[in-house]
Amino acid sequence: MSDGRPHDSTSATSMRTSSGMNGKRVLLVIGGGIAAYKSCELIRLIRKAGGAVTCVLTDGGAQFVTPMSLAALSEEQVYTSLWDLKNETEMGHIQLSREADLIVVCPATADLMAKMTAGIADDLATTLLLATDTQVMAVPAMNVRMWEHAATQRNVAQLREDGVIILHPDKGPMACGEHGEGRLPEPEAVIAEIEHVLDGDGATQSTPLAGKRAIVTAGPTHEPIDPVRYIANRSSGQQGYAIAEALARLGADVTLVSGPVSLETPRGVTRVDVQTAVEMQTAVDAALPADVAILVAAVADWRAEASDRKIKKGESGGPPELELIENPDILAGLGRSEKRPALLIGFAAETDKVVGYAKAKLDRKGCDWIVANDVSGDVMGGAENSVHVITADGVESWTQMPKRDVARKLAERIADALS
Ligand code: C5P
Repeated sequence: MSDGRPHDSTSATSMRTSSGMNGKRVLLVIGGGIAAYKSCELIRLIRKAGGAVTCVLTDGGAQFVTPMSLAALSEEQVYTSLWDLKNETEMGHIQLSREADLIVVCPATADLMAKMTAGIADDLATTLLLATDTQVMAVPAMNVRMWEHAATQRNVAQLREDGVIILHPDKGPMACGEHGEGRLPEPEAVIAEIEHVLDGDGATQSTPLAGKRAIVTAGPTHEPIDPVRYIANRSSGQQGYAIAEALARLGADVTLVSGPVSLETPRGVTRVDVQTAVEMQTAVDAALPADVAILVAAVADWRAEASDRKIKKGESGGPPELELIENPDILAGLGRSEKRPALLIGFAAETDKVVGYAKAKLDRKGCDWIVANDVSGDVMGGAENSVHVITADGVESWTQMPKRDVARKLAERIADALS
C-alpha cells in the first residue's frame, strides 16, 4: 500500500500517449534560424517514438546544423540540393515528399513561409513544398518583430487558408536578446502536435488556457481493508485523463491527481499518484490555487478501519465485520473552501434519474457545473460517454461520443468560461 503521501510521478510525463508515430515517416525541412539546433532533438524524439525522419536542409539551415549531425541522428541520407545529380537519380525531389506521412518545416523562418505563401520554388525545400499534396506543418521561429510584422501575419493567415498547419510560437527570451512571441516551441511540444496530426486529431492552433491552472482528479480510489485487500470500483480513469490532456493541449498548467489506473500520463501534465480518498484530498489541497478544478474521480464513499495484518479466513468464526467510515467529500470541501477555484466542476455517475440527482448535487456540493453520465451501460471502463452538462442556466445533453471528444468539448467550454 501507499505510504500515505501523494507520490509525484512527474517524470512519467515523457511517456507517449498514443502510437501516432509508430511506423510513420516525417520529412523534416530545416530552415535557417538559430532554432535549427532544436530540430536535432526533434529527430531523436521522432525516432524514439518509432517514426522515421528524412531531413531536407536549406542553405540557411546548414549555417546552424550540419548534414553530418542530421544524418547521424536520422540514420538516413540528408538532402540539401535540388541540383545533386546522384540524389535526383536515386530519389527525385517529388518522390521525397510522396514517401512522407507528414512534412514538418521546423524551424519555419519568415523567409521560408513567405516563399511558401508566394509559391516560390528556388531550392530543394521550397520546390518539394510546392510539389507535394502531403499535409504540411510549419513550426515558426523568428524574432518577435518579424513574427508580429503584418507581412508575416498575412503569410501565416494565407498558409492556414491553404491548409498548412501552423503551430503557435512560444513567448519568452530570444536568442537575439529580445523578449516576446516567436520562440520555437520545445521539441516535446512539437512532437506532441505531430502525433496528434498523425492520429487524425488535428493540431492545437491556439492556447486559450495559457497561464491558467487546472486540477483534475481521475480514476478510482483503493481503500485498504488489510495489506492485501481493498475496496474499489470499476472506474478506468479514461475520462479524467482525457480531460487533463485536452486542458493541457489548450495551454493550461494541469495537475492530474490520479487513483490507481494503468494509463499513461498525458503529455505536458503533472501527475500525482494516490491510492485513497484521504490521499486524494491532500494532493488536491496541495495543488491549489487553481482557476478550474474538474473532479472526475470515482472516489470511494467509505473506507474501512484497515487492519495492519492480513485478516485470516475464519478467524472470527465467519466473515469479518467491516466497520465503514465515511470518506471526505473532496468536491464539496472545495465548494466551501476559501481557495475554491473560480470554476468548479463535478461529475455524477448515476444509474437512474440521472439529471434529477445531478441537479441536486450541483447545490449540495457547491459547484458550478455537474457533468452527469448514465453508468447503467458499459460507460465505466468503456471508450464512449453520453453526458448531460448541468449548470445554473439549465441542462445540455450531448450525444454519445468517444470520451476524448467529450473531453475536448468540455475543455473548450472551460476555456470560454474562463476567458
Ligand atoms: O456524491 P457523488 O459521489 O455522486 O459525487 C460525485 C462527484 O463528487 C464527482 O465529481 C466526484 O469526483 C466527487 N466526489 C469527491 N469526493 C468524494 C465523493 C465524490 O470529490 N468523497
